[in-house]
Amino acid sequence: MAKQESTELTEAQLAVHWKEEGYYHPSAKFIAQANMTDTDILERFGEKNFPECYKEYADLLTWFVGGKLNACYNCVDRHLPKNRNKTAIHFVPEPEGEPIQHITYQELWVRVNEFAALLREFCGLKRGDRVTLHLPMTAELPITMLACARLGVIHSQVFSGFSGQACGERIADSQSRVLITADSYYRAGKLLDHKKSADIAVETAKAEKAPPERVLVWQRHPGKYSAQTPLVQGRDFVVNDLLPKYRGHRIEPEHMLATDPLFLMYTSGSTGRPKACQHSTGGYLSYVTGTSKYIQDIHPEDVYWCMADIGWITGHSYIVYGPLALAASSVVYEGVPTHPDAGRSWRIAEELGVNIFHTSPTAIRALRRAGEDIPKKYNYHFKHMTTVGEPIEPEVWRWYYNVVGKGEAVIVDTWWQTENGGFLCSTVPALSPMKPGSAGPGLPGIYPVIFDDDGKELSAGAGKAGNVCIRNPWPGLMQTIWGDPDRMTRQYFQRYCKDKDSKDWRDWPYFAGDGAVLAQDGYFRILGRIDDVINVAGHRLGTKELESAALTVPEVAEAAVVPVPDEIKGRVPELYVSLKPGVKASPELSAKIAMAIAEHIGPIAKPNHVWIVPDMPKTRSGKIMRRILTALSTKSDTGDITTLANPEVVEIIRSTVQAGG
Ligand code: WT7
Repeated sequence: MAKQESTELTEAQLAVHWKEEGYYHPSAKFIAQANMTDTDILERFGEKNFPECYKEYADLLTWFVGGKLNACYNCVDRHLPKNRNKTAIHFVPEPEGEPIQHITYQELWVRVNEFAALLREFCGLKRGDRVTLHLPMTAELPITMLACARLGVIHSQVFSGFSGQACGERIADSQSRVLITADSYYRAGKLLDHKKSADIAVETAKAEKAPPERVLVWQRHPGKYSAQTPLVQGRDFVVNDLLPKYRGHRIEPEHMLATDPLFLMYTSGSTGRPKACQHSTGGYLSYVTGTSKYIQDIHPEDVYWCMADIGWITGHSYIVYGPLALAASSVVYEGVPTHPDAGRSWRIAEELGVNIFHTSPTAIRALRRAGEDIPKKYNYHFKHMTTVGEPIEPEVWRWYYNVVGKGEAVIVDTWWQTENGGFLCSTVPALSPMKPGSAGPGLPGIYPVIFDDDGKELSAGAGKAGNVCIRNPWPGLMQTIWGDPDRMTRQYFQRYCKDKDSKDWRDWPYFAGDGAVLAQDGYFRILGRIDDVINVAGHRLGTKELESAALTVPEVAEAAVVPVPDEIKGRVPELYVSLKPGVKASPELSAKIAMAIAEHIGPIAKPNHVWIVPDMPKTRSGKIMRRILTALSTKSDTGDITTLANPEVVEIIRSTVQAGG
């Protein structure tokens, strides 16, 4: 069955051209302070101890009698006796002149209680209700999430960079009773009118016959409404005006079942409507707390900065729930990491004493492009750094290690997905060496495996890529897709299920949808989504390995490969690159880049064209939109580009391509 449908899309027989990279070892200094230095963990989390091994993570939480718990209680209340005066959240406004807010655990507790009181008394929200959040990166976002969690209300945060329409569709899909938004926020030096999106969101939800009852609006500057869009009488309410009524109110945290949903997080599949991953209270919180402790190596005294947006799962798990459950100080930065200049991130790190740093290859490339040596000018020291979100090119990994990490920090390359709640593959930082470009083995308790198209397991060191799956379930895995449980089975479990009637988890491996190669040493190298594969004359090439080869040319800052139809070869790759500042485009440079790919991978991979462009079209989360580049290369419709971070770049690239270079 699998054979036919797989011929175009999977990369099971993908030729693997990666060269094996050498190891980097964690420093003795890092190991001396690490949370997990005991190789026994692999034994304890061995398959024969599954699933009981996960009790170890559950034991990191505080439970109420009868196996009940509350996520807000675990992230806030329980820290008060020891850490009342410690900063829970450092809120860093984008405007550099505006002071950083250091919110202690005590203050967080007060603010969460008062806002929870407002949600309960003013909006009538109760356990099991849904609310949609469309909040930017300010402290009010975690405060709102925690207030919901306290009441057992299921929050669904929509990334603030998404349009009002996208937000409205998600309000309707989750049947949210309330929309919580903000009047405005700063981005790249501008105060944006965000309330505008709320009006569109409500109209969209109304059209789907599911309008929210109310809209709550947080003010970016408390006491001052700073959006152009007016409030709608009787529907919109300013939180900051209502809050004084709830001063001093305290709300008992609801005692939730471990299986009660904590939140929804939408993720867009390649086809169909966006789907809401439903994450549980007990399993999810245990998993993110355990992995924050052992993989992120967070101690209560650490200052931890994950530069992702809380609107993504990374932010939920590794800015809010995981770090706060461990009583760490977590940084929430409002704006663009390179605003007003490429030194901004390092000034923040220096000022706050950040010692754990977490970001994506896209951000690392942007910082590298903005200035090779800038981190050296700042006196910060990271002990630990994370990369997540897409495969990192070894070249970029080494820059991250040597320049950002100053050769001192360990790196974990964490592979996982919105659906997964927390990390799936990574090295345990003090136990295993790092390998540039490889995520590493499965986490303790996670058993990844690679299947070919026919469901045959590929052995370590086979040198072939296939579909990466996880053999066993784990506590962080989403419970279902909200409102569409069949889609959960279809999309993630059907592909390699051996017996559809089986009730045994062994028959239901989780299909992640990524291609991967397993090296002899048990390290997984993730190649990206299986649909990001280009088939050139029967050779399946991973876009990522071509891009990685392009990045070995020192002048190149970013690279994106797209497939274009070719009469003879079926498909041929075209390459888009942006250059580092000060580098001039020239036909010689294009030829050099094309040659680098031919050399690293083979002449078959040599791009048809190398387009040198000023910037890549990117989503607000920084992912390069290859779909748009493909449309430009094939002279077809680019579709909606209004949600891009930089829609203006599309026309510039179009004219380059039309002019033929
Ligand atoms: C997809 C999931 C939850 C993390 C944030 C993105 C790719 C993620 C890595 C990594 C190679 C990675 C995969 C995955 N991905 N991390 N370390 N190395 N690829 O969450 O939006 O749900 O995307 O991101 O292709 O399937 P997401």
